[in-house]
Amino acid sequence: MAVEAISIDKHVSSNEGKLTILENLNLTVPHGERLAIVGRSGSGKSTLLGLLAGLDSPSNGKVLVDGIEISSLDEDGRAAVRGRKMGFVFQSFQLLPSLTALENVMLPLQLAGREDAKALAQAALAKVGLAQRTTHYPKQLSGGEQQRVAIARAFAPEPAILFADEPTGNLDAATGQQIIELLFSLNAEAGTTLILVTHDDALAARCQRKLTLSHGRLAENEAEPESLAS
Ligand SMILES: Nc1ncnc2c1ncn2[C@@H]1O[C@H](COP(=O)(O)OP(=O)(O)OP(=O)(O)O)[C@@H](O)[C@H]1O
Ligand SMILES: [Mg+2]
Repeated sequence: MAVEAISIDKHVSSNEGKLTILENLNLTVPHGERLAIVGRSGSGKSTLLGLLAGLDSPSNGKVLVDGIEISSLDEDGRAAVRGRKMGFVFQSFQLLPSLTALENVMLPLQLAGREDAKALAQAALAKVGLAQRTTHYPKQLSGGEQQRVAIARAFAPEPAILFADEPTGNLDAATGQQIIELLFSLNAEAGTTLILVTHDDALAARCQRKLTLSHGRLAENEAEPESLAS
């Protein structure tokens, strides 16, 4: 299995007291699957993605990535697994502002000890149509271009699992569509497991499976709107 979540809970403490975001959630994602996670704003999608990717730890339960129990590792241990196995694409691009496009794409390759980091990064940028933009800084790029750099950065180390959280959320519809085509074509080419959080039904429909997060748990079927729920 690429990813397994076993009875995970996530509680946080806030001014209003203890808040349960996820409760007894179970999930199994086979290698190579394209999975969409949908749900209302605030239902916990980003929180769940962060736990599956080892950016955060569950309050209870286990998360396994490629059979490795990341939820029992410390931050350094989780970072090492992330670097070896995972790529990320976020709504807000998350490029480092002080690095050029090329340097942003090179960074995870260098962290992974790849001596051919520069050549690989150049090839990755060419693949997303940005061969002419390698020396640009993020602020010199449009939103769609920044997201293409982020996609190049995510795929260049050939991760086993790609996590994407609303990757088109900050883009206009036409640019978002281009980004989606790019994401799915690179994903198909590499056979990467894709775990995608989205509000967009058309996007979710392109995945093999769609799960809805509601009341802290995942369900196969579309949840009832909150106002109609008993
Ligand atoms: N560190 C935290 N402390 C307190 N509350 C938190 C924390 N992180 C998340 N929450 C709360 O948990 C809930 C789930 O947040 P999350 O960001 O996972 O939702 P989401 O489904 O990704 O929403 P959106 O679609 O708007 O991105 C929200 O009500 C949020 O306010
Ligand atoms: Mg979110």
